[in-house]
Amino acid sequence: MIISLKLQRGGPETLQRQVFVQIRNQILDGWLTPGLEIPASRTLAAEYGISRNTVVQAYEWLSSEGYIEANKGVGTIVSRTLPEASLYVGRTNEKLTNSRTPAAPKVPVVFKGRTPRLPDRTVRQAVDFWPGRPNSRHFPATFFKKAVDEHLGFSTMALSEYGDVAGLPALRSAIADQLKASRGISVGLDQIIVTAGIQEALNLISRLFVEAGTKVVVENPCYQGAALAFESYGAQLVPVGVDREGTTVEQLRGVSASLAYVTPSHQFPTGATLTIERRLKLLEWAQATGAYIVEDDYDSDYQYSGPPMIALAGLDNSRSVIYLGTFSKSIGAGLRTGYMVLPPQLVDHARKVKSLMNYGHPWLEQMVLADFLATGSFQRHLRRIRRSYAAVRDCLIDGLRSGFGEPDIRGAANGMHVMWRLPPGFPDPETLVAQVHEFGVEIYTLAGAGAVDFGSPYAADSILLGYSSLTEDEVKKGVRAIGRAVEAIGNHPVSGRKSWSGDPQHAGANR
Ligand SMILES: Cc1ncc(COP(=O)(O)O)c(C=O)c1O
Repeated sequence: MIISLKLQRGGPETLQRQVFVQIRNQILDGWLTPGLEIPASRTLAAEYGISRNTVVQAYEWLSSEGYIEANKGVGTIVSRTLPEASLYVGRTNEKLTNSRTPAAPKVPVVFKGRTPRLPDRTVRQAVDFWPGRPNSRHFPATFFKKAVDEHLGFSTMALSEYGDVAGLPALRSAIADQLKASRGISVGLDQIIVTAGIQEALNLISRLFVEAGTKVVVENPCYQGAALAFESYGAQLVPVGVDREGTTVEQLRGVSASLAYVTPSHQFPTGATLTIERRLKLLEWAQATGAYIVEDDYDSDYQYSGPPMIALAGLDNSRSVIYLGTFSKSIGAGLRTGYMVLPPQLVDHARKVKSLMNYGHPWLEQMVLADFLATGSFQRHLRRIRRSYAAVRDCLIDGLRSGFGEPDIRGAANGMHVMWRLPPGFPDPETLVAQVHEFGVEIYTLAGAGAVDFGSPYAADSILLGYSSLTEDEVKKGVRAIGRAVEAIGNHPVSGRKSWSGDPQHAGANR
């Protein structure tokens, strides 16, 4: 019997797991039928040039999940009784497809959304300037291991039952303390809902306010996760420009909309911080028009210089701001944990939607995070990584300066990435990104890094450099690769490249 495997060595998945998944899928598809003998581990290992232990481990997993079984005298066979009836789906479909009855046209999928772009780990180079990634070397694994162990030891009851849909009170209370100290927001824990990151909160808000044609103000350029979420519920997006002082709130005069989505601490992607004057104007607009402001405060844990800027939610006296926070940037996006702070009049509505979506956030993660915050470990962790990210950021700016002259950079005072306006004479962002990739380094155009652009002046001449996940050596390697790429392209001029001097987009409007 032949098992056909496509194994990728050195990829993100172990060989054991690849063997396990591929054989399991062939069983699920009905390609390997119940009762069929599968090759001895030694034979399969020799055929694919992998160690026998790898195959033994994969077979053990398949056996423990009920896909294969030992059969006396014959060796190992595909289980006669597969784990679930649903495993027959593949073959059932085959029967239906072959039947003579013509199939009725299927009900169309009504979802019309576009998918946000996430980095594809399998094709990225080792030195990767993807913005907004915390450095995994700093993940507080020791604390998490200990806390998971402790809580599993005596709290399995909580894992066997549903919890509060708004989230664990201990975590919400720790978040409330944290918000008061660091963002000037004074709220009770009943106004906080723990979510699966900011992305879930954006969906929850859309569910509350957006239907076909609802006007939603967004920044131009805008974080794709927000623009695409609103759009998928039928929103009519109203883009508003961004300059050095953040969102150009003046453009809102005369605009009526249900929501205005903003990233005031560190505009994504341009890095601008919204000035206090504009913050107050934005709040006035919301109060006058009845709109809600959605304040996405994704990376405000990192402020390296200047006085701390109070969040919009901290300045809001008219119950107009829905504040969104996340642990994706301070700890890791894999936690999928964030939170929203709601004006009191929205709390019950939001709790109802959260119930419909998933009945609340996983208990164990919340418990561990609550400990992490309440013991002061979170603050210590932030202090440590802030220092380290600031050093890497300095190294990046120094490198750009010595390689290419004084850099035109936005967003360096806070956050985890900068926007770099390419110096005159440089190739366009797409060409540069592609060439730098050839030298083992990833840098990003605005669109490549997940920004939706509505014709802003930035996409044509700027790139994003996220530095937080890199070491200083990696940053130096990255800057060298940019220099080599510019040289290489210089020797082979790119056809169709715009001239810098004549391009009206560079004339400075809106910058
Ligand atoms: C502007 C912005 N908001 C939010 C997020 C994070 O969302 P989440 O909490 O869903 O991971 C990101 C991540 O890159 C972001 O850039």
